[in-house]
Amino acid sequence: MAPRAEPQFVCSKCDAQFLRWTGRCGECGAWSTIQEIGAASAESGRIETTDAKPGKTVTFQSLTETSNAPKQSIGFEPLDRVLGGGLVDGSVTLLSGEPGIGKSTLLAQAALAAAAGDPSILYVTGEESPSQVALRLKRLTGQIPSTLEFLDATDAAMISATIREQKPLLTIVDSVQSLFHPEIAGVAGSISQVKACAGLITEAAKRSNTSVILVGQVNKDGDIAGPRLLEHLVDTVLMLEGDQDHRFRILRVLKHRFGSTEEVSVLTMTEQGLSTVDDPSAELIKERPIQTSGSIITCLMEGHRPLLMEIQALVTPAGYGTPVRRCSGIDAGRLGLLIAVLARRAGINILDKDVYVNAAGGLKAKEPAMDLAICLAIASAVSDVAIDPKTAVFGEVGLGGEVRPASIPHLRMKECERHGFNRILVPKGSITDPTSQIVEVATLRDAIDQSLVSS
Ligand code: TYD
Ligand code: MG
Repeated sequence: MAPRAEPQFVCSKCDAQFLRWTGRCGECGAWSTIQEIGAASAESGRIETTDAKPGKTVTFQSLTETSNAPKQSIGFEPLDRVLGGGLVDGSVTLLSGEPGIGKSTLLAQAALAAAAGDPSILYVTGEESPSQVALRLKRLTGQIPSTLEFLDATDAAMISATIREQKPLLTIVDSVQSLFHPEIAGVAGSISQVKACAGLITEAAKRSNTSVILVGQVNKDGDIAGPRLLEHLVDTVLMLEGDQDHRFRILRVLKHRFGSTEEVSVLTMTEQGLSTVDDPSAELIKERPIQTSGSIITCLMEGHRPLLMEIQALVTPAGYGTPVRRCSGIDAGRLGLLIAVLARRAGINILDKDVYVNAAGGLKAKEPAMDLAICLAIASAVSDVAIDPKTAVFGEVGLGGEVRPASIPHLRMKECERHGFNRILVPKGSITDPTSQIVEVATLRDAIDQSLVSS
């Protein structure tokens, strides 16, 4: 049998390999991305990361010497909080988020705070020119500390060598998509390039004991070069989320080798950059309309942080054709399901009406515990009866119309009480010693009767 032919061509977008050149990648469908595999580089598809040679021995390392990883505070509270105190020396953190959400702003503030303590900080500006970064920093602080050094470079090998030589305490690379590895085929930002560049920088961080924060862009239609691709390579993955048209941003931890992933920071974008919101629940509900139908307060859990949020609904007679369902901050599929449950299990037939639902404030209410609030906001909007403004609700709604338990109910109830809600509708079984303020509901019908009748 003849030996199997090795693939000779690779797609620079998705890394698929082919025997023959084609104009369009058969895997990802991209045009003009198929390139011949370079004899020296991509043939192996690997980067040399060790200097192992035949016959060479290695020295064992005791884990007791390395396990107590102390954290160095950055001095920028939102980052320190989610990292559980700060960065571990030699660790690599990936900061992801959609373009324009505020990643560069956040890191500029972190760099300024870290440099204030006088350690050496290296800021690699692959995406923006140093003058652009300097302008932003000046706007944020007035003057730039001399300990903050800029490197206007995109060559990952050169950046990695600089980190190894200079050994700064913290290196910020904005962004990993702008880097290129000179020995790897593909354009900057392609999967193979992003992986190779991140690999080089990670290795430099570990060897020189420098903490690195890498920025990773997330595309609107997926996370091609975002957290998933590099998750296994880095120690920590942070995500900055929010709606660009709204003020609030949430900084959360998706993976953390040195601590909990439950901490979140709630931030607001101001003229002076991102600042921490001290009482996010109060901020999120302060603009809600009182005595207006279709509005209700619920409690969302972000990690182990309870956040109050207003859900708004509007129901109008449908025009011609398929009724419109629009939502923001809520999963569209979930909304369709809840409309069906409302119709079949609670007798609220809106299948022929246009329904609009909005999680006010620009945050995402994708937790199942938001179901009850979405249903009650719709029920209130249909009947045009306002829900009592001191009522808050939470609970998942099942297909049978039953209200199912939500996680950590006591924290949610406490947050509602702290903000003056004196009637809290909760799933049955959420509380062992009921108070007069807390009303347990078993079904959606029950919850509608309890909240709309009392108003
Ligand atoms: P940026 O941090 O560049 O986003 P990313 O790096 O995630 O692409 O900027 C996000 C937006 O924030 C940008 O439209 C300008 C705005 N912004 C402010 O509102 N205040 C500020 O102090 C700064 C620096 C930016
Ligand atoms: Mg940026």
